[in-house]
Amino acid sequence: MSDAGSPPAAAPAGAPLLAVDDLVVAYGGIKALRGLSISVHEGEIVTLIGANGAGKSTLLRAISGLVPAKSGRIAFHGKDLRGVAAHEIVARGVAHVPEGRGIFANLTVKENLVLGSWSRGSRADLAQDYERVFALFPRLEERLSQAGGTLSGGEQQMLAVGRALMTRSRFLLLDEPSMGLSPRLVEEIFGILEQIHRDGTTLLLVEQNARRALRLASRGYVLEAGRLVLEGPTDALLHDPRVEAAYLGGE
Ligand SMILES: Nc1ncnc2c1ncn2[C@@H]1O[C@H](COP(=O)(O)OP(=O)(O)OP(=O)(O)O)[C@@H](O)[C@H]1O
Ligand SMILES: [Mg+2]
Repeated sequence: MSDAGSPPAAAPAGAPLLAVDDLVVAYGGIKALRGLSISVHEGEIVTLIGANGAGKSTLLRAISGLVPAKSGRIAFHGKDLRGVAAHEIVARGVAHVPEGRGIFANLTVKENLVLGSWSRGSRADLAQDYERVFALFPRLEERLSQAGGTLSGGEQQMLAVGRALMTRSRFLLLDEPSMGLSPRLVEEIFGILEQIHRDGTTLLLVEQNARRALRLASRGYVLEAGRLVLEGPTDALLHDPRVEAAYLGGE
């Protein structure tokens, strides 16, 4: 999938920040990823789109050490992540905003946020982290002592992103941050992602809202049934008839 003559938003030169190579992940006998290879370079926003069950969340979970890989390689900063414990992967700088947000309903907003800072091993400078999160999400500050479960869907999504920022990771995995949100909130969340990126964070964004994700990212991958079917600069993917037919129709 290359568009001769257009400036390559193809993978930048140099060593990638994240390199996934020929990754196979299975749940019991069922292969969810069947030899998947992607890369993310520092400073990029890369998106992964695909239908329900394509294996998008499985990829993010494998990177975060939440499901084991059967074979293949996952390297972050050139170092193997396979077999590394999930908490250690967070400590190495990979933060995950999971599908469904993963908010602790009975903990307050503040307690949910503090959990994000645990991977740092030190609670020093917490005030600075709160400041950064509240600058992006003023609504969280107003609701600090409220139980997470009482927040609206949009607020819970903000809390999930805020908690990930509390890790101070420079690499964020985002699993369908726009799911279930109104169009206005989708715009708000995407605007915030853009800002987080501008502030120096690399993003790997999984989305079913393909059009919006392709507009935000510079490169994209299309996953079907655990395999890549297309990849390339998002400008090209947005105009690819196969992407239009399968993922952009009717939006
Ligand atoms: N814990 C599990 N046990 C067994 N099978 C699973 C498990 N999690 C996912 N699968 C299967 O693996 C495949 C990929 O699932 P995955 O959740 O990664 O897809 P997805 O692309 O994130 O889908 P969605 O868009 O619905 O979130 C699916 O066939 C799914 O049924
Ligand atoms: Mg998923």
